[in-house]
Amino acid sequence: PLPIDIYPNRRNSMGVDLAHPPEMAELREKLAYWRQDHPVARPTLMADLEGEKIEVHAPQSGKVVGHQIMATERDLDLAMSRAVAAQPMWDALGGQERAALLIKASDLLEENMPRFMDLCRREAGKTMMDGVLEVREAVDFLRYYACEARMLFGAPQPLPGPTGEQNLLRLHGRGVFATISPWNFPLAIFMGPAAAALAAGNTVLAKPAEQTPLIAALAIDLCHEAGIPKDVLQLVPGDGKVGAALTSDPRITGVAFTGSTNTAHAINRSLAARDGAIGTLIAETGGMNAMIVDSSALPEQVTRDVVASAFQSAGQRCSALRVLYLQEDVADEMLEMIKGAFKALVIGDPANLETDVGPVIDAEAREKLQDHVAEMIEDGFPVWRRSMPTECEHGNFFSPTIVEIGSILDLDEEQFGPILHICRFPAGSMGKVLDDINATGYGLTLGLHSRIDETRHFVEARAKVGNFYVNRNQIGAVVGSQPFGGEGLSGTGPKAGGPHYVTRFATERVTTIDT
Ligand code: NAD
Ligand code: ALA
Repeated sequence: PLPIDIYPNRRNSMGVDLAHPPEMAELREKLAYWRQDHPVARPTLMADLEGEKIEVHAPQSGKVVGHQIMATERDLDLAMSRAVAAQPMWDALGGQERAALLIKASDLLEENMPRFMDLCRREAGKTMMDGVLEVREAVDFLRYYACEARMLFGAPQPLPGPTGEQNLLRLHGRGVFATISPWNFPLAIFMGPAAAALAAGNTVLAKPAEQTPLIAALAIDLCHEAGIPKDVLQLVPGDGKVGAALTSDPRITGVAFTGSTNTAHAINRSLAARDGAIGTLIAETGGMNAMIVDSSALPEQVTRDVVASAFQSAGQRCSALRVLYLQEDVADEMLEMIKGAFKALVIGDPANLETDVGPVIDAEAREKLQDHVAEMIEDGFPVWRRSMPTECEHGNFFSPTIVEIGSILDLDEEQFGPILHICRFPAGSMGKVLDDINATGYGLTLGLHSRIDETRHFVEARAKVGNFYVNRNQIGAVVGSQPFGGEGLSGTGPKAGGPHYVTRFATERVTTIDT
C-alpha cells in the first residue's frame, strides 16, 4: 500500500541549510549576537526567594553560560495548585484552540532557531548541525501534536446503540502532567512530551535536566508569548530531587519521562507508592543498540552509516549504535574501512562547522566512559582510541573509541558516549546474534546492512526493538515518518511523533443519553 500522510497539510520544518553561504553568513551574525546573552532559568511561578541559584557551564570550556534558580518545596506547591486549578479551563478550550496556540508556539520556536542553536552549543555542547536538527524536531513535534489536538479533541465520536439511545465518546486531559526530560535533546525532548500533554488538555509542569535549563526556559517563554497561559505550562527547574518531589505528589496524574532506565524504575516505584489516583507513566529510556552487517552489505555505505550512528552527537543519542556485529568473512575489510573513517573524524569545538564530535555533557559522563574503557583494557579486549587535539584537553571531551568484544552480553549497561563495540559472527549464526541482542532486555533501535530480503524478513520477525533501520544509519528519527520509542528496558511506548502518542495523555469519557 502507498504511505498515507494522516495530516496532509502538515509540513516538517526545513531548518537552515548550513552548506548555503548566504544563509550561513546571516546565521553567523545572529549567533554572534546571541553569544553575549546570559540567561537565567527560574520557576515560572515563584513562591519564595529561597531557591538556590547555580551556574550553568558549557561542556566544552567550563565557562558560565547562565544561571538557574532551583524550584523549592514552596514553589512546587504553588506550581501544582495553580496547574490543578487551570486544568478544567484548558481542557474545556478544546482541540482547535489548543492547536492554534501550539502552532503559534512552533512558529516562534522556528523564528528563534539561531538563538536556540547558540544555546544548544554553549549549554549542551551541540554541533551546528545537531543544533539545527534539535530545533527542527521540536517544531515538528509541536505541529504534529497540534494536528492530533484538532483531529482527536474536537467533536465527540458517536457510537452505535439501540434506537432511542445516543452514545458519545470524548477524549479529555487526565489532569496535571509532569514532563521530566534529559539533557541530550534539551529542546526536542523537553518540548515534545509537554506539547503532547498540552494537546490532550492537560496542564504541564515541565522539569528540564539540571544540565540544560536555559534552552528549556527560552522554549517556555516563547510558548507563553504564543498565548499558552502561565498556569497551564510552567517551568520547574531542578535536579533529580525536584523530579522525585513532583512524581511523589498525588496531584500529578501522569508523568512523561525520558532518561535512563534506572530513573524510570525509580519514578514507577514513586507513582505506585502514592495514595489516591493511579498515575500514568510514559517512559522513554536507554538502549543497547546493535547493527548487524552481513557479507552482502555495501562496505562504503556501511562505513558511512556506522560512523554516523556511533559518533554523531558524540554518541549521546539514545538511538546511537553501541555494538556492531560484522559477519566474519568481511569483518577485517569492514573494520579497516571503519577505522579509516574513524581516524578522519574531526573532534573539537562545536562552534566550528567542520566539527564531527563535540564534548560529552559533563565531567561525570566523561569519567564514566573512561572507567568503562579502562575496564575493557583490563579485561584484555583490543581498543583503538583517537588522539585528542590539544584544544580539547581542558573541556569535557572524550576521545572516540572502538573496542572489539566477543558479544553484546560482555557489556553490563548502556555506555552513553562515542564508544563503538565490535563483534564478529560466523555465517549462519544470525539467529544466535539476535538472541543475544534480545537477551539484553533493551529494545530501542536495531540496524541491519544486508541486500538479502530473506535476511531482512528473518531479523524483522525476531528482533524485539522499537525502530528497525535497514541499509541506513539508525539515528535521527523524523516526526511523522519514524515514530520513535522502544520496548522492554527501553520504554513503555507509545512512540513519540506517531499517531498513538497523544491519546496516551488523555482519558476517555462516554455519555449515554436515552432520548
Ligand atoms: P537521567 O535519568 O539521569 O535524567 C533524566 C531526567 O530525570 C533529568 O531531568 C533528571 O533530573 C531527572 N531525574 C533524575 N532522578 C530522578 C528521580 N528519582 N525522579 C524523577 N526525576 C529524576 O538521564 P540523563 O542522563 O539525563 O539522560 C540520558 C539517558 O536518557 C540515556 O539513558 C538515554 O538513552 C536516555 N534517552 C532516551 C530517549 C528515548 O527516547 N528513549 C531519548 C533521549 C535520552
Ligand atoms: N529521535 C532521536 C533519534 O532518533 C532520539 O536519534
